[in-house]
Amino acid sequence: MFIYEDIVGTNEQGNMTIGGCDTVELAKKYGTPLYVMDENAIRKACRSFKHSIDNYYHGNGLVLFASKAFSCKEIYRIINEEECGVDVVSGGELYTALSVDFPAEKIVFHGNNKTADELRMALDNNVGRIIVDNMTELELLSKLAEQRQKTPKIMLRIKPGIDAHTHDFIKTGQIDSKFGFALETGEAFEAVKKSINYKNIEFTGIHCHIGSQIFDTAPFEAAADVMYSFAEMVKLELGFEIKEINLGGGFGIKYTGRDNPTDLDRYMSHVAKVLKQKSEQFGMYMPRIFIEPGRSIVGPAGLTLYTVGDVKTIPDIRTYVAVDGSMCDNPRYALYQAAYDVYIANKATQPRDFVATIAGRCCESGDLIQENTKIQTPEVGDIVAVLATGAYNYSMSSNYNRLPKPAVVFVKDGQSRIVVKRETYEDIIRNDI
Ligand code: LLP
Repeated sequence: MFIYEDIVGTNEQGNMTIGGCDTVELAKKYGTPLYVMDENAIRKACRSFKHSIDNYYHGNGLVLFASKAFSCKEIYRIINEEECGVDVVSGGELYTALSVDFPAEKIVFHGNNKTADELRMALDNNVGRIIVDNMTELELLSKLAEQRQKTPKIMLRIKPGIDAHTHDFIKTGQIDSKFGFALETGEAFEAVKKSINYKNIEFTGIHCHIGSQIFDTAPFEAAADVMYSFAEMVKLELGFEIKEINLGGGFGIKYTGRDNPTDLDRYMSHVAKVLKQKSEQFGMYMPRIFIEPGRSIVGPAGLTLYTVGDVKTIPDIRTYVAVDGSMCDNPRYALYQAAYDVYIANKATQPRDFVATIAGRCCESGDLIQENTKIQTPEVGDIVAVLATGAYNYSMSSNYNRLPKPAVVFVKDGQSRIVVKRETYEDIIRNDI
């Protein structure tokens, strides 16, 4: 019935459950809007990724959770316990990870315009890899490293020229992207040459990330092929063997029954096959493989609970169900028209035969959580549950209209605990002078 049967269910009261907890009780206990995440589901996802690295690369690799999908202290603790690394994209994410003693050597630092302060912070804390995006950064990093007498390990972000977001993905040299070094102009090759020659930089490998919410294995295979072929060219022309390839994230998840992402094992086996074939063909050893799943680790694990404040039927037009959340806690419909499955948690076993538009409480007509979606017959006071909100919801939340951010609760085996407190009005004015 639910897209993630192993995460979400129903109980004897006909209420929706997650991680063995009754969502209606959670709403009562912690208030709404509320983000709820199933800890076991997050851990299980980490383990599947880890197992596939063991299976397909004999353990010669590392899963890096892309923490932009969901960042708070507790997630870094859990990811660490699951023996994965993390990808951070800002001083803020790095600071959060370090604040809970996340092992710095298992942090990779991304970003297309890292500030000098952020680079200093990365150097001072000895982060595992800095993924260098452009020549300016490469030069700046080399200078800063020299001043600090450090030799950071770096990878170069490459644009492999694959656009995975078209119906039939495109492979061209001309992909327009703000991220990374272009292959076709020779820029990537120049960056490699420079990186090898810098004394105070240890160039370990190359990185690419071809997009997000990708369902098919073909673009990933093509990217692996391009990356390894580039590594071969580097070996032939410069005699330098690239030891690490980071293939980024982007594995699609189900948001509704209409989504049909490829399963992890299929993706991992196909990509590994491409790399193995290449390594045999080129007589090069298999590089160490990094992958950076974000959405697929936390997305399915989360749901958001709201309380219905009003049901407004406009005859012959539509019914608006106004909830106490908004585009502030889930901007993904407003930004991408992202589809979600919506239920009334206290009527979870009843049929979803009512078509409604779920509206938020921001002063903004476009503040909708979902349009013309099927739910159970709504009434004021009902608890609405939006599924699969674990990724890019809390992490993309804002305080527009000075709405305090909801709390995040983790559930596990019937127990619940707060991992991020609900913001207060005092929090809202904290930095105001
Ligand atoms: N690695 C890099 C370098 C990335 O840029 C990203 C995502 C990931 C890994 C993780 O990708 P994932 O496995 O989560 O697809 N706000 C958008 C998603 C933006 C993703 C940006 N980069 C959304 O809500 O759909």
